[in-house]
Amino acid sequence: GRVLLAYSGGLDTSCILAWLIDEGYEVVAFMADVGQEEDFAAAEKKALAIGAKKFFCVDLRREFVEHLIYPSVQANCIYEGVYLLGTSLARPVIARGMMDIVEQEQCQFVSHGCTGKGNDQVRFELAFYALQPKIKVIAPWRDPVFYNRFAGRGALLEYAAQKNIPVFQTAAKPWSTDENLHHISYEAGILEDPDTTPPADMWKLTKDLKATPSEPERLSITFKKGIPVEVIVHPSGAEAVASTEGTKVTDPVEVYLTLNALARKHGVGRIDIVENRFIGVKSRGCYETPAGTILRKAHMDLEGLTMDRDVRKHRDAFLTTGLSSVLYNGYWFSPEREFLQACLEKSQETVNGRVRLSLYCGNVIIEGRYSDTEKLYDAEQASMDAIGDFVPEATSGFIAIESIRLKKWGEARNSKAGA
Ligand code: ARG
Ligand code: SIN
Repeated sequence: GRVLLAYSGGLDTSCILAWLIDEGYEVVAFMADVGQEEDFAAAEKKALAIGAKKFFCVDLRREFVEHLIYPSVQANCIYEGVYLLGTSLARPVIARGMMDIVEQEQCQFVSHGCTGKGNDQVRFELAFYALQPKIKVIAPWRDPVFYNRFAGRGALLEYAAQKNIPVFQTAAKPWSTDENLHHISYEAGILEDPDTTPPADMWKLTKDLKATPSEPERLSITFKKGIPVEVIVHPSGAEAVASTEGTKVTDPVEVYLTLNALARKHGVGRIDIVENRFIGVKSRGCYETPAGTILRKAHMDLEGLTMDRDVRKHRDAFLTTGLSSVLYNGYWFSPEREFLQACLEKSQETVNGRVRLSLYCGNVIIEGRYSDTEKLYDAEQASMDAIGDFVPEATSGFIAIESIRLKKWGEARNSKAGA
């Protein structure tokens, strides 16, 4: 049989590659470029040296930004109030990229190095089956033949030596990471004690607050239908008023890279959480989501100006929570995601305008917002200085009706208390 292996270049998937060959499979190695810092050429050389028949590296960054990250910005997605879903968002794109190669290379099997305890195995495999229902999955870390033989790192290292797999003695980081354009995750190792403060040199994508500039950075983000279409970075010292002066970026990948660089510089986007994995285990994770933190705040702000109150209420109640759990639990390719996304797009039709903000010492500070098409906000109507066509007496009726139920409830409580 022919297997497409999701290859990372690390010790685990290199041993899995050699082991699959030992087991009689023909292996094609796959890497996705989702914006992680990686030596793809070195990984290709390594995979081919171990015995992969072919190696594919597919640049999926644009698809990642446009098809996954932007819908999550539109929906203000967040898991358990903190996690911006960085790893969850990349999985559907990687799985889709793999299914292209599976078809092209006529593979009957796919394989990956996810553990049997995590979310990623579920996300990958549910996506594989939804896209290619006939595919067969080989999950070595759930196969007793594999996990009994390779219990512990020592056995993997021994096998690597035997197979001439080079093991890079990179200053061993005592945690596991997963990186892409949206975020990096740090889990396991010393972080497994939830009361351990992450060491300052762990954080890779954002500057320590002590090393951030003492001057704020000002930018404007323009959204169309809830999607960031333009970022202007204003020159330093610019007046804190609306301006089109500055460096402009519009390409989605460029927008993302620009916001990441600015957020990094100002220490924006660090997260530390104990979260509930889909399989029911609690796990501690530290994450950095630089651009994502800016975009979520800016997008939510513009919705305040441009979105109807009750559309927003229902979107918050159903779409934000719904899509976040769809993403976290690995149901991107599903009828419920298609349904939620169609509603989401409807909700975003009015989210058009521009948000001005500054980045400073880990903060994203909103300074103003503007829309030249959406006219829900009416300064005169909201004003404390003018009555306009507002009828103050009408509100007495509104409060009288709304209080009927509360008066009844208060009377009932008071009569019980008096009894
Ligand atoms: N806990 C996070 C999540 O489930 C991060 C997972 C990181 N995955 C990894 N293979 N290191 O989305
Ligand atoms: C893994 O278990 O392979 C990584 C962590 C996760 O998937 O939750």
